[in-house]
Amino acid sequence: MQVNIPLKKTVDNSYDISIEALKKNHFDTKVAIVTNPKVAGLHLAYLLSFISAKELFIITISDGEEYKNQESVDTILESLFNHRFNRKSMLIAFGGGVIGDMTGYAASIYQRGIDFIQIPTTLLSQVDASVGGKTGMNNAYGKNLIGAFHQPKAVFIDPYFLNTLAPREFGAGVAEMVKMAITFDKEFFEFLESAELKDKEVLAKAIKKAVQTKASVVAKDEKEHGLRAALNYGHTFAHVIENETDYKEFLHGEAVAIGMIMANEVSVSLGLMNEDEALRVKRFLQKYNLPTSYKIKNENSFYEAFFLDKKSSDESITFILARGIGEVEIKNDVERSLIISALNKFGDLI
Ligand SMILES: NC(=O)c1ccc[n+]([C@@H]2O[C@H](COP(=O)([O-])OP(=O)(O)OC[C@H]3O[C@@H](n4cnc5c(N)ncnc54)[C@H](O)[C@@H]3O)[C@@H](O)[C@H]2O)c1
Ligand SMILES: [Zn+2]
Repeated sequence: MQVNIPLKKTVDNSYDISIEALKKNHFDTKVAIVTNPKVAGLHLAYLLSFISAKELFIITISDGEEYKNQESVDTILESLFNHRFNRKSMLIAFGGGVIGDMTGYAASIYQRGIDFIQIPTTLLSQVDASVGGKTGMNNAYGKNLIGAFHQPKAVFIDPYFLNTLAPREFGAGVAEMVKMAITFDKEFFEFLESAELKDKEVLAKAIKKAVQTKASVVAKDEKEHGLRAALNYGHTFAHVIENETDYKEFLHGEAVAIGMIMANEVSVSLGLMNEDEALRVKRFLQKYNLPTSYKIKNENSFYEAFFLDKKSSDESITFILARGIGEVEIKNDVERSLIISALNKFGDLI
């Protein structure tokens, strides 16, 4: 005997992302703003001049990737229980990707899911992390291994917050932004190549273009069954670099910059990209002081480390490769020898 539960109805998770100066918003419910001491010190007063609620609470989590863990998520959840949040209550993530990922995750599990809004304050989180509903945290087994897809109700991107961002953090955001241009949009890459991102209006335009690109990919493949994986361009390599350097030497976006150069070396070897295109990408990254070289100690162990990545299966490694500039190819059948020789070639460039 079988009982069937018909669950085919689709849920509408659509939401708007505004890229403009913050506007006044009142929420007729309990709201908790989750942030860290650094962002709060710099910008909480400004935020509070725009946000009001029936009851408003602030939850502060220590600053840093090392705090993107169960303990911090528990801190958020306990605060929600203590303040008797219910299923109509709401969270606001106010900070970079670390705060955004954890707040979203806490929102996804509190009483089986409550609403949250993203107000990202780093360039990386404005162009990438706050959009698309991937939430999560790290544990002893690795980064982002625990999480849920939980879309925000809205994303408020105000480039004003970026005025206080450290230059290296800005560069890391540029790396994730150009990643989307290289894989999906040649015109966007050309725009970035000639853009002066220090100019506020130009920066806002670039953010908008990156968000549009990510939004259209997420709309086609919300849960990463295929196309969305293309946003991991450069990341297979970056994760090995981050692991080898204990997450201390490079910011994530910086490791992605090196990873994109490595991926392009593979693209060139496969005839997907020519040397000139690879050089254009490298020059662009260097303009933003992003690292483009890395001393690979041992190509074989670097290759073996790909298998530890959660995107790889036991037998094959998925490589996200740019085809020229503006198109992407997802490949599972690249020969080990070709990768090793591309890694060798990459090493020779230093
Ligand atoms: N969910 C996704 O789709 C997705 C995508 C990409 C990255 N991520 C995650 O995002 C995280 C990285 O995000 P990040 O680069 O924003 O790092 P982060 O959140 O650690 O922020 C970087 C630093 O900048 C500080 N900061 C934040 N806003 C500031 C401001 N306006 N002025 C000055 N300093 C400010 C933070 O306090 C922190 O010290 C990683 O954990 C990564 O896994 C998630
Ligand atoms: Zn990334």
